[in-house]
Formats: sequence, structure tokens, C-alpha cells
Amino acid sequence: MNAIEADRLVKRFGNVVAVDDVSFQIQKGEIFGFLGPNGAGKSTTIRMLCGILLPTSGSATIMGFDVTREIDRVKPLVGYMSQSFGLYSDLTVEENLWFYSRLYLEAGTAREKTREVIASLGFESYRKSLAAQLSGGWRQRLALGCAIVHDPEVIFLDEPTAGIDPVSRRTMWDYFYGMAEKGKTLFVTTHYMEEAERCHRIGFIWKGRLAALDSPYRIRSEFRAHEIVTVRTGQLNEAFRRIRQLPGIIDVNIYGEDLHVAVPRADEAIPRLRAAMEEAGISVGRIERIQPSIEDVFVSLSKSEKP
Ligand SMILES: Nc1ncnc2c1ncn2[C@@H]1O[C@H](COP(=O)(O)OP(=O)(O)O)[C@@H](O)[C@H]1O
Ligand SMILES: [Mg+2]
Repeated sequence: MNAIEADRLVKRFGNVVAVDDVSFQIQKGEIFGFLGPNGAGKSTTIRMLCGILLPTSGSATIMGFDVTREIDRVKPLVGYMSQSFGLYSDLTVEENLWFYSRLYLEAGTAREKTREVIASLGFESYRKSLAAQLSGGWRQRLALGCAIVHDPEVIFLDEPTAGIDPVSRRTMWDYFYGMAEKGKTLFVTTHYMEEAERCHRIGFIWKGRLAALDSPYRIRSEFRAHEIVTVRTGQLNEAFRRIRQLPGIIDVNIYGEDLHVAVPRADEAIPRLRAAMEEAGISVGRIERIQPSIEDVFVSLSKSEKP
């Protein structure tokens, strides 16, 4: 049995098709990354999978239960940390956890689960702190705690690491791995491409359609549409403008101090790139073919006519 199944899910809002015929199966214990630009349909998909939003058509199951017809069976199995998760800022850490656990559990179990989450998320010394007093990273961690305090099997995390510092992000990811090892299933959306690499599998959604779905490794290695050349130069913007005008260039993007140039064939393009830059008086450092990153693949998918 799959932990999550989506079968031809569609959601329309008036004329907008927010989710357009999306299907996938996610196994128990899997960390599934759901990626895509703003407005692609990530949150809408999650809301349908949690049973919060009715699909226009199609269906979905959580641990074998239909999210529309068997919502009462689904609810206790699902944890949902939404993009702007509602913590009570005038309640303490412990009171927030207690409140959310009591929505699902009887008092004895709720007390036990609250204690467990305080320990496992490292909240012992902040138990009595007001949620309002926590830093961004700790607030997100508490939101995560509230979403999982009833011990759900399937956990939806909508941009759980948005805007928090790298150390807190790392801690969160370590915690995600710990949950997956215990057999929990995680469905995570993120804007951080390096987090995509940490997922067991990723789906890329664009304009409501699922444009790719596989392991990060396979998505990178099976991407054969074109090759990527990296160009290091001290004059990034000049080089960007010059290269973009050259014939036979599919795409150019700036990645930190480098340009990533998508071309049909790297061995043919490299001498041309070098010559064009030298001719324009632009200094060239390292220039070589590289394996496309997940980001290269997704940028390319987002720019193609049809996903
Ligand atoms: N309740 C709603 N009413 C109307 N349009 C909506 C609603 N929720 C989302 N949308 C639209 O659906 C599309 C997908 O939104 P969303 O699922 O929030 O994207 P993402 O989470 O990937 O940024 C967007 O065009 C958004 O404006
Ligand atoms: Mg969203």
C-alpha cells in the first residue's frame, strides 16, 4: 500500500487551473520533495491531499483511505504544517503543543506526546517561553512540533524551512530523516534547490502540471535535452549579455560567480564561447562542461514550452 496516492487530481479556481491532472504514488518512509516556482500549484495539491480542499476532479488516498469519502479516517493519519502555520503567540511552547495534541488525543496520550516532542525537538529549556519570544528558526521548529504532536503517519510540510538560518534548516532536515527512518512519510515543499537533493524523490510542478518525477540522481543523469557549460569570468554581467546574443545558445543563467550556459553540444560551444568573449575583451577563467544540477534541470523545464 502506498502512503500517498494522487490519481489525476485537478483543481480549478474559476478560470485558473491550479492543479492540472497530477498523479503520483509515494511510499511509506519516503521523503518526497515537491518543487516548483511560486503559483505552480504546490500548496493547492497539499490541501487536496490533506482533505482540506475538494478536488474539481480526480482522487487521492492517504494510507489507503480516500481523502474525500473517508476524511474521518484520514484526519488522524495526517500532519500539516502550512506555509503560515498558526502558532498562538500568547501561549508558551508547551501550551501550543498541548493545544494541538488535544485536538486529536485524549489527555493521557496528549501529555505523553507533548513531552516526547519537547524532548525530541530540543525545547526543554524553552518549555515556558512564549511562542512570540522565539526566533524564526525556533518558531518553525515549534510549528513542526505542533503538526506532528498527534503522531501522524503522513506529514505535509509546506515550505517548512522558508526564511530560516542555515543551521536551523540543517537541524530540521536531520529531524526529517529521523522521522522517515521511523517509517513516517514526508511530503515537503521548498524553494532551496540544495534541499531538493536531500529528498528520496522529487516532483517538479509547473503551471499545475507535473513536469518531472524521479530521484534527484536520475533526474540529473537522465536530463539529455542539452549540455551545460560553466563559465567563470570577472565580468559576469557583460559576459551574460554577450553570450545571450550568440547563435546556438539555448539558455544562460547566473549561478553565484559563474554563468551556466545551456547548449546542444559542449565540445562545439566551448571554443566559440571563448572566442566571443575574447573578441569582446571580456576576461575568461574556467570554462568547461559540467553535469547539470537539479536547478539547471528545473530552470530548463520551466522555460520549455510544454512540461
Ligand atoms: N483559494 C484560491 N482561490 C483562487 N485562486 C487560488 C486559490 N488558491 C490558489 N489559487 C491560485 O492557484 C494557483 C496555485 O497556487 P498555489 O497552490 O498556492 O501555488 P504554490 O503553492 O505552488 O505557490 C495560483 O495561480 C494561485 O493564485
Ligand atoms: Mg504555496
